[in-house]
Order: sequence, then C-alpha cells, then structure tokens
Amino acid sequence: MSSLVRDRLGGFAFGADYNPEQWSESVWDEDMALMKAAGVTMVSVGIFGWAAVEAEPGSYDFGWLDRVMDRLSANGIGACLATMTASPPPWLAHRHPETLPRRADGTVLSPGSRQHYCPSSPVYREHAARLVEAVATRYADHPALALWHINNEYGCHVPECFCDVSASAFRSWLGVRYGDVDALNDAWSTTFWSQRYAALDEVLPPRAAPSFLNPAQVLDYKRFSSDALLECYLMEKEILRRVTPDVPVTTNFVGAWHRIDVAKWAPHLDVVSYDSYPDPHEPDTVIQAAFMYDRMRALHGKPWLLLEQAPSAVNWRTHNAPKAPGEMRLWSYQAVARGADAVMYFQWRQSRGGAERFHSAMVPHGGPITRAYTETAALGAELGRLDAVLGSTVDAPVALVSDWSSGWAVQGSALPSADLGQEETDFAHYRPLWTARVAVDVVSPSVDLSRYRLVVVPNLYAVDVAVAERLVEYVRAGGHLVMSFFSGIVDSAERVHLGGYPGPFRDLLGFGVDEFWPLPPGGAVALGSGGVGTHWSEWITPAGAEVLDRFADGELAGRPAITRHAFGDGVATYLATRPDEATMAAVLDRALAEAGVAAVLPDLPAGVEAVERRGSGGRWLFLLNHNKHAVTVRLPEGSEGAEGAAGAVDVLTGDVLGAEVELAGRGVVVARMG
Ligand code: GAL
Repeated sequence: MSSLVRDRLGGFAFGADYNPEQWSESVWDEDMALMKAAGVTMVSVGIFGWAAVEAEPGSYDFGWLDRVMDRLSANGIGACLATMTASPPPWLAHRHPETLPRRADGTVLSPGSRQHYCPSSPVYREHAARLVEAVATRYADHPALALWHINNEYGCHVPECFCDVSASAFRSWLGVRYGDVDALNDAWSTTFWSQRYAALDEVLPPRAAPSFLNPAQVLDYKRFSSDALLECYLMEKEILRRVTPDVPVTTNFVGAWHRIDVAKWAPHLDVVSYDSYPDPHEPDTVIQAAFMYDRMRALHGKPWLLLEQAPSAVNWRTHNAPKAPGEMRLWSYQAVARGADAVMYFQWRQSRGGAERFHSAMVPHGGPITRAYTETAALGAELGRLDAVLGSTVDAPVALVSDWSSGWAVQGSALPSADLGQEETDFAHYRPLWTARVAVDVVSPSVDLSRYRLVVVPNLYAVDVAVAERLVEYVRAGGHLVMSFFSGIVDSAERVHLGGYPGPFRDLLGFGVDEFWPLPPGGAVALGSGGVGTHWSEWITPAGAEVLDRFADGELAGRPAITRHAFGDGVATYLATRPDEATMAAVLDRALAEAGVAAVLPDLPAGVEAVERRGSGGRWLFLLNHNKHAVTVRLPEGSEGAEGAAGAVDVLTGDVLGAEVELAGRGVVVARMG
C-alpha cells in the first residue's frame, strides 16, 4: 500500500503544533527529549511565526527557526512546516489598514487576535507571497522538511470579508461566472424588487440591508468567498511547488462545514488534513466526529491526517470539559479506524500567556508528570505497532450526499421554514447508519455514485437538473436511494424548478408535492406507524409511489408521509417529514437490507463502534468501546485461530484472539483479520 506518511516519516505521523518561539531556547532541548520519549515523529512548526521571522517588512530573521529545524532533524523528527501566513504581524495593519477584513455591517476586524486579513487584499497577498518564497527557499533542502502546512484553518474566523477590495474582487469573479450583466440579472432574478443592474460595476457584496437580501447574491458571495481563500491557498501552493516540487502540501480543514467548500478545495491538496475537537460534554460527540472523518476520507478516498486534536480540554467553548481517562486514546483510534494516518495535537507545550493558555497540551503547565503527557506518550509508543495499516482505507457501501452550495442555500432566509440546518439534517440521517455499523462515505453529488449500494440524500434543496439527473440515473441503473423532503426545489441560482415540486425528482419518486406544510418550532405530527414526524410535513399527491407510512393527525391526516417507488432497476424511498429516531432507523434499515448492505459486525453491544480498514497489505477490524464498562464482542466466523482459519491478532497487544473478545471500558482492539 502506498502511503505518503510512511514515505515521508517511516511510520505514523504523531506529534503536535510546536510553537517554540513562545519559549526561550533553554526549553527547546527539553522539548526534544520529551518528544523523543513520547514517540513524536512530526511537529507542525511556525504556524503563527510570521511576526517572529519578519519583525519589519522585508527583513527576515530565520535564525531561531534554523535552530529549531536543525534540532528536529538531529532528533529524527519531521517538520510539517507552516508558511506562516495565517496571522499577519501588527505592522501590516498599521501600514496598510485596508488589509483588515470587514463584516457585513461594516465593522472592521482589528489586529490583536488572528486571521485579520482580507483574502482579496493584494497587499496581504503580496506580503504573504514574499514570505512564502523566503520560507520555501530557506528550507527547501532541510532534512527535517516533511510536509508543507499552508496557512491555517482557512476561513475559520473570517469566512467572508465585505470590504471594498472584496467588493471589487467579487465583481471580477461575477464577470468570469456570468460573462455580462444580462446573464447575472437573469440568474439572480433581479426583476424582483427592482434590483436590476445596468452594469456589473453596480453590484455590491450582500451587506447589511433593510430586509431580505437577494438569495442568489448571498449564495454567490459564499462561493466567491470560498474561492477568494482558495486563490490565496493556490498562490502559496504554486510557490511551494516551484521551489520544492517533491514536497507534499496540505492545509488543515476545520470542523464547521459552512466556511469553505472543502469538496472544491480537496483536489488541490496532496493529502487531506482535518482538525477535530469533539466536545466531551456532548452526548453524540463520537458520532459527530465519525461523520466528519467519513467526510474527510471520502474527499480523496484515501487516508487523511488528523492534524490537530486536543490532548484533553479546549478553552474556546463556554464550558470546556477535559477528556476522561482513556477517551483521548479511544477517540484517536476512532480517527485512525476511519482512515487517519496521523494523530496530531494542538499543541505541544501549553502556552504561558495568550488567549490559549488554558487549552490543553501534550506538555501541560505542570510539565511531563501529568496525565496529558503520560497518556499521549503512551499512545505514541503504541501507534508504531500499527504501521502496517498506513495507506489502507475504508471501503464504504453507502454514500451520504451533502452538497456545500445547497447547504449554504438552505440555511438562507425567507424559506418555508427556518429549521432546515444542513448539518443537523445530515446528522439525523447519519446517526442510524452509525448505529447500524455500516461504513459510509460523505460525498458531494457530483462524485461517481455507481460504486455505492445505497445513496442517502438528507436534503438537496439547490440542485441543477444535470446533477439531479445523476441521482435519477443511479436509481434507474439499479441503485437504492433514500431522499428527504425539500430536495430538488431550486437550481444553483436559487430559481425554483417549475412544473411542480420536487422538479427533477418527481418521476424518480413517483409523486408530486402540492404544498409545503412545515411544522411550528418543536411541533410534531403523528404517523400511522405509531411514530411521529418533526420539522416538516407536505401535501403529497402520489403518482405511482407506494405509501409506507401516512400522517395520522392534523390537516394532512391520511396523506403520505413516507413513500417507496420502484424506478428503473432501482428503488427510491422518500421521507416527507423528519421521523423520530426509531422510525428513521427502521426506514434506513429496510433500505440497507433491500440494497444488500450488511453491518461490519452484527449484534454488537450498544456504544461499540466497528470499522474495517483494508488495503493490499491486509484487513484490520477496529473495535472501539465507547462505554465506561467492559463488553464482550463476537468476532466474525472463521476469524479465530482454529481449523486452519487465519487467526485474528490484536495488533496492539500481539494476542491471538478467540471467537469472543473482551473489550475494557473505553477499550480498543485492532484485530488483524488476515
Ligand atoms: C484550531 C487552531 C489552532 C488552535 C486550536 C485550539 O482551530 O488551528 O491554532 O487555536 O484550534 O483548539
């Protein structure tokens, strides 16, 4: 199995963000010794180092970083070297206040925190490019250089800037997208409310306005903003490629889905990286984390890097819970099970001052005699036993379709209901699949769906006919599809598909929707099956679809709530409401069974996750016990060492496993299945 991480580091990427510029050099030798003892193989260096290398414009001092890089290579530790462009030094804003970003209401975001730059600012870009060139040239041949870390969490704090520079860049972007103002007027439906533009020069960002903004303008601004950040990334990548053609590049994506369109970005990364911060206070936290890992893996269909996670507590929620003993290890293996070839933390040494002084670190304020250091170092020692897993991936039979643009659109304003959060909707459909222990890829609708047995479409509100047609063809060719309400309603410019809802999916689903009947906040409607629907209901007129469940009270009593339609060689199931969890699970279980999708491992105790990674080098079954109590798990037939069958070995302990495996509370077994 080819593995980028093995090629660059010889084993798992294990380490942390390393910010040595926050400490005197006398601490650095201790850092190296502790890193070696903890099994660290790679650190991300210099992410916020801009001010420390360029104290004045154009005058670089890389002395401290040279000494850090030399120490790293002397200790056999790779550098995921940052391009340092994530947080400009105060002098940039002081000399060029026009580089500061603006909110929609005109508020200028000041220096004093981080990410205070307008992505479209030519001044920011010029200074960033000069810095990247200097960093790349300086370290091109340094033996510690393993990977380039471009910027940091693009769009995390400032996904959109509304300043005049951005306005002008937006107009150029619109010129490329639409060609001329007539096409823009048409796409944006500007005859409405007298919004017609005489020239592209008149167009502004969707700034604070008296009432609802033009939805197409708002949506295009999100696309433009993601593209503006992507241009910054590509500008840096081009420099790095020219100077170091053989060094892979990445940038770390961040949890909240709505900032940049990662599906559009992913082709430009050599390896996908993700920062994961599950909240220990949140009951569903591991399922939410699994969803994001399945999204990250599916971007390339290859291993990805867990580039940041907290060793214990973060400091940026209102209430910051530490990870309980065993949780950090368990959750790290969860990422590995779902395709991560790296386990990295934020950060190495806990800051003494600054806004993150109460964020956990591998080396806390109390030094190495602490739980965080002991537990992370123990994991570092253990991960080496999993080197054979590097490069393998998860073969998912189910796809969950989640489209960025559509998600942005459905969270806009002036819709039938304000309760249509894409993240929450996706998760409501993902949760039962996680519980059913089937492997899922979270994908955009434009990927090749033919390899999946079941495709789940929680909500695809904004979709062009050509893309919708791919889903229709998928079912016609024998695929199984589950779709939920308010899909196929508008095109990518938010113009309604005429001729009856849900325009391009009517034939596929075998009905028409006459009217939407969204429920009031917290409202519920009874279903004939005994369950309840929430969020939404709608007036369906069947035209061939079989009715699986009906609304049982209210104005729609007796009308279809859940339908099934045999279409071509496949089947399309539809949910006209958000059913309660048990009903949702029953609908998905039925679709899984019809599609011939089985659990990775059946009959597991509640709270036990089972994921299989496979590659040319073998198959590994990860069993993760999220319970505090011990559980017993039956391994698949034939995996035990009897009767000539290949014995499953727990890679972490070397033990040959029998038919039944005992998993300690928060325990992990990685069974090599031959
Ligand atoms: C990330 C960020 C890091 C650090 C971390 C704290 O979003 O990339 O620099 O701030 O959060 O949890």
